[in-house]
Amino acid sequence: YVTVIVLAAAAYLLGSIPFGFLLVKYVRKEDIRQKGSGNIGATNVVRSGAKGLGALTFLLDACKGALAVLLCGWLGAHSPLPAVSFSDALALGALFAILGHIYPVWLGFRGGKGVATAFGVFIALAPWPALCSLGLFILLFAVSRYVSLGSIVATIFFPIFAWLLPHRPQGSLMWSVIFFLAVLVIYKHRQNIVRLLHGTEYRFGKPRTEAA
Ligand code: G3P
Repeated sequence: YVTVIVLAAAAYLLGSIPFGFLLVKYVRKEDIRQKGSGNIGATNVVRSGAKGLGALTFLLDACKGALAVLLCGWLGAHSPLPAVSFSDALALGALFAILGHIYPVWLGFRGGKGVATAFGVFIALAPWPALCSLGLFILLFAVSRYVSLGSIVATIFFPIFAWLLPHRPQGSLMWSVIFFLAVLVIYKHRQNIVRLLHGTEYRFGKPRTEAA
């Protein structure tokens, strides 16, 4: 289990860096958790009035997810520790990077919803399915102006794209992790889902209606 613990810890630590929180805290001297939806993710950073920082948050959150997967793949393949399979090492990186983002020890285990980090993780695991999900997200956002709706539907479709497209990810742990992460990201959007159903979700480009 030593290898598993090392990989999990490395991925968790990378994933737990709360870029949105840190950028807003040190650049704007504000607490993003007190703004808008209270989420520390890129969407809420943009919503708080910092478009550039929001874009940077998305990029950094995605990069840490991709990096965690690549690092775990590399460590799994090269470490002198007892070996886990390459696919299992990638899966552990994916799982713990997103757990780190959603439950960061530094913020009392109250982190983000995992969308940007999941995108980075999924790009590293299965680039074409991840890009298809991104395309779906862009389409839904362009039509509805709801980031959360795009995130939820794109997340639901990622496992489907990953299954259907060539170069399907391999391994039972990998698929368990892909499904678990998709369910977790959607679970983290439960308040958004309630707001969407009530027509009170935050909408970009339209006057904001009362939010729950
Ligand atoms: O990436 C998170 C997004 O789907 C929703 O964020 O701030 O609107 O809850 P937010």
